Amino acid sequence: MEYILDTACIADIRHCNEFYPISGVTTNPSIIAKENRDFWAILKDIRDVIGPDKILFAQTIRKTADGIVEEAKLLNERAGGEFGVKIPIGEEGLKATMALKKLGIKVLMTAIFTPAQALVAARAGADYVAPYVNRLDNISGSGAEVVAEIVETFALYGLPCKVLAASFKNVEQVARCATAGCHCVTLSADILKAVISHPMTDAAVAGFDSDWKSVYGEKTILDL
Ligand code: E4P
Repeated sequence: MEYILDTACIADIRHCNEFYPISGVTTNPSIIAKENRDFWAILKDIRDVIGPDKILFAQTIRKTADGIVEEAKLLNERAGGEFGVKIPIGEEGLKATMALKKLGIKVLMTAIFTPAQALVAARAGADYVAPYVNRLDNISGSGAEVVAEIVETFALYGLPCKVLAASFKNVEQVARCATAGCHCVTLSADILKAVISHPMTDAAVAGFDSDWKSVYGEKTILDL
């Protein structure tokens, strides 16, 4: 499973790009608006941090298929490296996806809440679908079960579309997506940090440190 960062905060992207094996960055209009500065400058700053090979996703704003395609073409031109356009599922979005497929622009069909929506998106040629795990859990659904069903359905029909699960609020949601065979998850920096944190790990490392120091003091291997 690939880890992607779901933010436009440059400090978080810089940190996670250095310390975690992330394959790219996803944004959406809400994430971009939170930064409250020039849109193109945000994309450029993200690209400067992640380099040309990691994938950057940005979402279209126009509502008609033609408008979505024009925005996607412009984003793809200016993204300066590996790029995927995020398009919310809907009739116009599906029409745009079929057109963008012919142009070779990668599409992440977003705002997915059911396996049925995901299947239609994949058939239209979407490279990725983004089911919203936490938002499903919040309405007494099961985000992880929806992810599992989408993964199974794509495998059943041999569809190459990847499941890029989004909207996470805790580590358990991420773990359940991983066991479901989800291809990618996009997480905030806080959730990514929480994934590797465990109090037992901290206790184990503290034990190693104190046992070592009881014999070798402050010396490290390089000092011996
Ligand atoms: C990604 O495609 C989504 O835009 C995002 O992860 C939604 O997350 P939220 O439910 O925390 O807003």
